[in-house]
Amino acid sequence: MKLILFYCFVLGFLSRNTNGDLANKKFPENFRFGVATAAYQIEGAWNEDGKGENVWDRFLHENPFMAGYQNGDVACDSYHKYLEDVQLLKYLGVNHYRFSLSWSRILPTGYVNQVNQAGVDYYKNLISALVENGIEPFVTLVHFDLPQPLQDIGGWPNPQLADYFADYARLAFTLFGDDVKNWMTFNEPKQPCQYGHGYGYFPPGYATDGIGDYLCAHTIIKAHARAYHIYDEEFRSQQNGRISIVLDTYWYEPSSDSDEDKEAAERQRQFTFGWFANPIYHPDGNYPQVMIDRIAERSKQEGFSKSRLPEFTTDEIEYIKGTYDFLSLNTYSTYLVNWTEEYPIGNPSWDADISVTTYQDPSWIGSTSPTLDIVPWGMQKVLSWIDQTYNHPEIFISENGYADNGDLNDSQRIDFLSQYLSNVLLAIFDDGVNVTGYTVWSLIDNFEWLLGYTAKYGLYQVDFDSPNLTRTIKESGEYYNNVIVTKCPVDTCED
Ligand SMILES: *[C@@H]1O[C@H](CO)[C@@H](O)[C@H](O)[C@H]1NC(C)=O
Ligand SMILES: *[C@@H]1O[C@H](CO)[C@@H](O)[C@H](O)[C@H]1NC(C)=O
Ligand SMILES: *[C@@H]1O[C@H](CO)[C@@H](O)[C@H](O)[C@H]1NC(C)=O
Ligand SMILES: *[C@@H]1O[C@H](CO)[C@@H](O)[C@H](O)[C@H]1NC(C)=O
Repeated sequence: MKLILFYCFVLGFLSRNTNGDLANKKFPENFRFGVATAAYQIEGAWNEDGKGENVWDRFLHENPFMAGYQNGDVACDSYHKYLEDVQLLKYLGVNHYRFSLSWSRILPTGYVNQVNQAGVDYYKNLISALVENGIEPFVTLVHFDLPQPLQDIGGWPNPQLADYFADYARLAFTLFGDDVKNWMTFNEPKQPCQYGHGYGYFPPGYATDGIGDYLCAHTIIKAHARAYHIYDEEFRSQQNGRISIVLDTYWYEPSSDSDEDKEAAERQRQFTFGWFANPIYHPDGNYPQVMIDRIAERSKQEGFSKSRLPEFTTDEIEYIKGTYDFLSLNTYSTYLVNWTEEYPIGNPSWDADISVTTYQDPSWIGSTSPTLDIVPWGMQKVLSWIDQTYNHPEIFISENGYADNGDLNDSQRIDFLSQYLSNVLLAIFDDGVNVTGYTVWSLIDNFEWLLGYTAKYGLYQVDFDSPNLTRTIKESGEYYNNVIVTKCPVDTCED
């Protein structure tokens, strides 16, 4: 059944694609394939067995319209169905499963003074089931879902949160570190900082653009470094694991060959990826110079007494620099960048601090996520740029995937995966980039934040109308299984 289906769609797929985006090379023998999820997006059981409230619980209960009157209260009910999920993973044949811990399930108040044993047991059981089935856990400590009591003291812009995060990280390493060898401190910290404390459409919904977003990032970068050093000093020698932070970026391509457009695209990359990556991954550490200079200059013109971008001390720069064992990247799409006139001085904002124009080419193929056009060549370009900018790190792709309406016959997702995987191969073989793993977002259709349940990313369909939340494999799931077995993203590869 598996093989017959596979050949049906591969034949269809080959006849549709003549665009030169395909590579018929095999992935290296030790290359790792996996899938990803996150606690709030799949677990449900939002207030069961002693779990505390987090910022997404609060935000969507108080502002239900923000996600089209949908939320993660039940989601895929993976809190109860995790053993079924492990069987789905086993069928795919993945090497790893990336999931996140719900901080509020383990520490209902956010603080370590109260540990919820039922929450600890849930993750212990999940991790044991993974290990028994030969699936390596990649664990994210915070995937957007900050405990509400820590928001009540100001959330990430409050520097004290680095201490509370450090307590939680130490507890997680203690509880789970015998079986978990790959840790990720934060998922895409740009999102809660920029959307939550800049534009104001993620929790806590503060529109403090150009100020709160930078403060939020400043604490998160320091909190990440704390967790890294705790792991390094207290756990590494016994547990022998690895730790990193998951950063996301689009590829930003200059819209022309002009020096102005090239400079604008690089500035956009530095403000987006470099903001978090430079302090951690760049040999010099600290924020990118272009951010330091531009935000200082605009702040001055706006009448502030000092830059809106907080400063790291020399000691902090040294403490943060190099706090990674691999570089973990989420990437989905590409934008074009035009040079523009400097935005007028007025209300501060991150966009004005950059002062460029970004857009997607109308001829690109869209997806159900309106901002995420399919641009496979952007994958090779972003990997090569990171390789060159950050001194040839090991790169682990922790998310990449495609949203549609949820059909089982998802040939467009197969096209997407084969083309993006081909561009990973081009980065490895043509550009010498050290990519060691790839992770599909997502294992199952799930709650996609403000898109609710409308954007379906799963290799398995979830029937959200059935009381059972029945999971059914899609054709892309069969395709991915074949990629994992053959190491080849198209029908045949060179040996
Ligand atoms: C970007 O610049 C190109 C010319 O280089 C122009 O054709 C296009 O309209 C510009 N797009 C935007 C969104 O400004
Ligand atoms: C890639 O990174 C891994 C882990 O750091 C290292 O062992 C390996 O030698 C690197 N490979 C290349 C081709 O640089
Ligand atoms: C899936 O859809 C494609 C394109 O719409 C079609 O050619 C193919 O026959 C379908 N496959 C199955 C198994 O329904
Ligand atoms: C519910 O799910 C279980 C496990 O997948 C399955 O065995 C059972 O048949 C399903 N029940 C219904 C009513 O779909």
